Amino acid sequence: MANLERNNKMLLDLVRQPSNNTCADCGAPDPDWASSTLGVFLCVHCSGMHRNLPTISKVKSIRLDLWEDSLVEAMRVRGNSVAKATFEKCVPAFFYRPKQTDCVVLKDQWIRAKYERREFTGEKFIHPSYGADTVEVTLWKKGKDNKHFFKRIFLLSRNDFTLRYFTKEESRVPKAVISMRELNAVFQPEKIGHAHGLQISYLHEERSRNIFVYHENGQIIVSFFNAIRATRLEYLQRKHPTLRLNEDATELGTVFIGTESHNYCVTQGSTRSSRGGRWHCAITLQTPERQFVFMCEQEQEQHEWIEAFRKVICQPMTPEDYANEANLRRGK
Ligand SMILES: *[C@@H]1O[C@H](CO)[C@@H](O)[C@H](O)[C@H]1NC(C)=O
Ligand SMILES: [Zn+2]
Repeated sequence: MANLERNNKMLLDLVRQPSNNTCADCGAPDPDWASSTLGVFLCVHCSGMHRNLPTISKVKSIRLDLWEDSLVEAMRVRGNSVAKATFEKCVPAFFYRPKQTDCVVLKDQWIRAKYERREFTGEKFIHPSYGADTVEVTLWKKGKDNKHFFKRIFLLSRNDFTLRYFTKEESRVPKAVISMRELNAVFQPEKIGHAHGLQISYLHEERSRNIFVYHENGQIIVSFFNAIRATRLEYLQRKHPTLRLNEDATELGTVFIGTESHNYCVTQGSTRSSRGGRWHCAITLQTPERQFVFMCEQEQEQHEWIEAFRKVICQPMTPEDYANEANLRRGK
């Protein structure tokens, strides 16, 4: 028994260490549960969701349960950072990472995407619907009476960056065409009265409008939510190919990003000498006039930014872009 007590103490020492001291899935402080099969420390709420995946995750309380030597050893060689390097190896920039305060469906689907579907380990292609040109889904939409829900077809398009919805499959006249420019989506289970309730807000004739929807299947509604985020991010990257240089929250300037054929290019790293590792995750953006070096905190962020820059640089410049470029050069 002394051994088992010692084992709990070892786990309690590990969970106090940085990166282990927040829940591996939602970031809640002071987790006191752990998955012995995945090697992660978890908060009590996320441990409950891990219980729904019994073939993948075995959870135990690090205070109350008994841990055999072999299980502690399995924990000791992993921990939150090691697991993150595997299961969050390539989370797309648009993909929503839930926080402690988020609703259950977001956390549950994050956990399933991470460990059950292994969407971010880099072993396989990302869920196809995030990258598709159009995503169509039938959702329950709250009617004007504010009581009943009706089946409506939603069509998200990357071709013109819009979200449309239709009352019937055969009616090709949409009830609304919403531009990504003014669209925002947020889960609101209480307000909508359904655990998977999603609020879509947009501007119409300068007034803010809301659409309340849900789908019984958590994976479908969360995938749709992330597909909206993916489309919106791509829209923003295309429409605003400029980057604000922030340092200590002071805006230092705006850089226009043109295309390769106009002598813009982006590369990883920096030619500047390393100042105590400060230039570890650098990105160099070459413009016709000068070089800009940006720092990212993490390698993943660095890769996502490079990818985003490259996308912009490959685009042909529009007349609007030429005007912006000229304005920025004049210091406007
Ligand atoms: C977190 O826990 C793991 C074992 O689960 C351990 O290997 C790692 O060193 C801990 N992290 C820190 C920063 O001590
Ligand atoms: Zn958690």
